[in-house]
Amino acid sequence: MGEVNVLINKAKLEKRIEEMGKQIQKDYEGKEIVFVGILKGSVMFMSELAKNIKSSVELDFMDVSSYKGTESTKKVNINKDIRNSIEGKDVIIVEDIIDTGRTLTYVLEYLKQKNPNSIKIATMLSKPSRRVMELNVDYIGFAIEDKFVVGYGLDYNEKYRNLPYIGYIES
Ligand code: IMP
Ligand code: MG
Repeated sequence: MGEVNVLINKAKLEKRIEEMGKQIQKDYEGKEIVFVGILKGSVMFMSELAKNIKSSVELDFMDVSSYKGTESTKKVNINKDIRNSIEGKDVIIVEDIIDTGRTLTYVLEYLKQKNPNSIKIATMLSKPSRRVMELNVDYIGFAIEDKFVVGYGLDYNEKYRNLPYIGYIES
């Protein structure tokens, strides 16, 4: 296992998250926002994003895992559901990275059944070249090439989540 190289440094990452927070604040003026963070990868991005929004933001979490089936049989399993009702609320799903889009396609359809007033997606990173599901992503921090990245919540076998920047592992 190789060394971790910096892909997006802390200053650049946090400046971008600040911009995203300001954009969300503008788009949601007068509305009650509920963040639904996808555990565990989203926690650092979610807290940084929430700190950059002046109005009150409710925080909730889901824990989902995608089964390691074949590409066509892959399923998403809910290990932990949200705690509070989102009926009539304005929900933003907060994710660390969107790869194939399978996880969020499933989560989006699942949460829509709980009758929120609106539902959007904010992701720190996106790998557009890897997408297999058509998914409308409303807020994207950085679109990156197809590299395995770690840090700022993202892990490799549960390691590197606490790095304060986005890195990639030289293979
Ligand atoms: P998707 O369902 O294919 O979009 O997968 C998204 C999930 O895969 C993310 O929530 C991450 O947990 C994980 N993932 C995808 N790419 C990476 C990566 O480069 N580093 C770490 N985790 C990743
Ligand atoms: Mg994840």
